[in-house]
Amino acid sequence: MPAAFTTATARNIFYGGSVFFILLFLGMTLDTERKLPNYDQRTQLENPKVVAGKRIWETNNCIGCHTLLGEGAYFAPELGNVYKRRGPEFIKAWMKAQPSGTPGRRQMPQFNLTEQQLDELVAFLKYASEINTSNWPPNIEG
Ligand code: HEC
Repeated sequence: MPAAFTTATARNIFYGGSVFFILLFLGMTLDTERKLPNYDQRTQLENPKVVAGKRIWETNNCIGCHTLLGEGAYFAPELGNVYKRRGPEFIKAWMKAQPSGTPGRRQMPQFNLTEQQLDELVAFLKYASEINTSNWPPNIEG
């Protein structure tokens, strides 16, 4: 009586499984590609003001205390949605008013940014707030 599980069976499982998972992988890749933001949204980062604001964000190490869309440090509030939470004027006034010196509150340094740099920073935070994150974070306070 021949063995039920022959070499040919093993080979068929191997090739069949490989083809199945390659097709699954291609299907999922296609699905991801279709759900990615469209080209216009992706190239918003070519806006020079947003690029300049991103550079200010990076060179002043805001991420050393804050998170941006969950990435970063947990010392200070999430800033991915701060533009929606506070608006441009609050953000600029906030940057100028630091450190607050309020006893018992964590302090943020003064960065001495110019009006133009503040506008660029706000442009970057606005851009960040418009990234489609499927409504994350769920809480407007970040
Ligand atoms: C040394 C840590 C530190 C660094 C670096 C830092 N921050 Fe902050 N930031 C804080 C803390 C702490 C708070 C909250 C203070 C409070 O609530 O009294 C804060 C609050 C804020 C807020 C207000 C958030 C809100 O929800 O109202 C904004 C906007 C902000 N930071 C922007 C920035 C930007 C932009 C940079 C980089 C240029 C930066 N921060 C760098 C510590 C920091």
